[in-house]
Amino acid sequence: MAFATYPSLSGRVAFITGGASGIGETFVEAFHAQGCKVAFVDLQADAGEALAAKLGDGAWFRRCDVTDAAALQAAIKDAAAALGPITVLINNVANDTRHPAAETTPDAWRRGLAVNLDPCFIAAVAVHPMMQAAGGGSIVNVSSINALLGPADLATYVAAKGAINSLSKTLAREWGADRIRVNALSPGWVVTPRQLELWLTPEAEAEWSKLVALKDRIQPRDIANAALFLAADDSRMMTGQNMVVDAGRT
Ligand SMILES: NC(=O)c1ccc[n+]([C@@H]2O[C@H](COP(=O)([O-])OP(=O)(O)OC[C@H]3O[C@@H](n4cnc5c(N)ncnc54)[C@H](O)[C@@H]3O)[C@@H](O)[C@H]2O)c1
Repeated sequence: MAFATYPSLSGRVAFITGGASGIGETFVEAFHAQGCKVAFVDLQADAGEALAAKLGDGAWFRRCDVTDAAALQAAIKDAAAALGPITVLINNVANDTRHPAAETTPDAWRRGLAVNLDPCFIAAVAVHPMMQAAGGGSIVNVSSINALLGPADLATYVAAKGAINSLSKTLAREWGADRIRVNALSPGWVVTPRQLELWLTPEAEAEWSKLVALKDRIQPRDIANAALFLAADDSRMMTGQNMVVDAGRT
């Protein structure tokens, strides 16, 4: 398969949360391959450092817990000082741990939103002045088709993803005059190491396969391809949308 190259991405600075593994790792690699300078944060220091070392020039990593707002803000500031003003933000981090709603304490609910929702807003506000000064930018908030489907046992995750879709719309409206675009990107079930380890059993995959139009597995690269398009000038008149990449599940 041969995928697109986007000349407008060359030299841009992208900031990606949760970039050390899973789909985030593929975002980091794909944006770097387009000639972007890529800053990314993650809890997993070893994996993040190894990825940054593998990519070499133009890659910047810091171990950061995105639930710590001050640490996330500082990482964004320091990444911009190292690489230049950030004009692409990929809010990718999430935690899809299952939990029955009736057994979820107020603290657990808050912790769920702290990882799945809050960093999207905090990072967007942190990059806003840089994008404004640069004459524009693109924010991609990674959501999920689960915001549309509402499966059980994922209450904080699903609520956060629904909020991300709405947040994308309101920020798109508020910042559009500065050519700052904000879109949600909703994957279907993507084959990542974590999904394979925890949830993607042969039975679950057979069930999924019955419900989708396209029977190939969705790979992280399929989501990265959509993120590249949303970040590039090719989508310059697209904002406030929810782009769904789900093999036709919804
Ligand atoms: N994989 C799927 O099937 C699927 C489907 C729909 C949506 N999504 C969305 O795609 C995005 C990426 O999903 P994924 O499957 O690659 O997830 P993942 O769990 O495999 O990776 C998430 C990354 O974020 C990091 N992380 C977690 N908590 C963190 C914290 N507090 N601070 C910093 N880093 C932290 C993890 O270390 C990991 O590297 C998420 O927004 C997810 O909701 C994934």
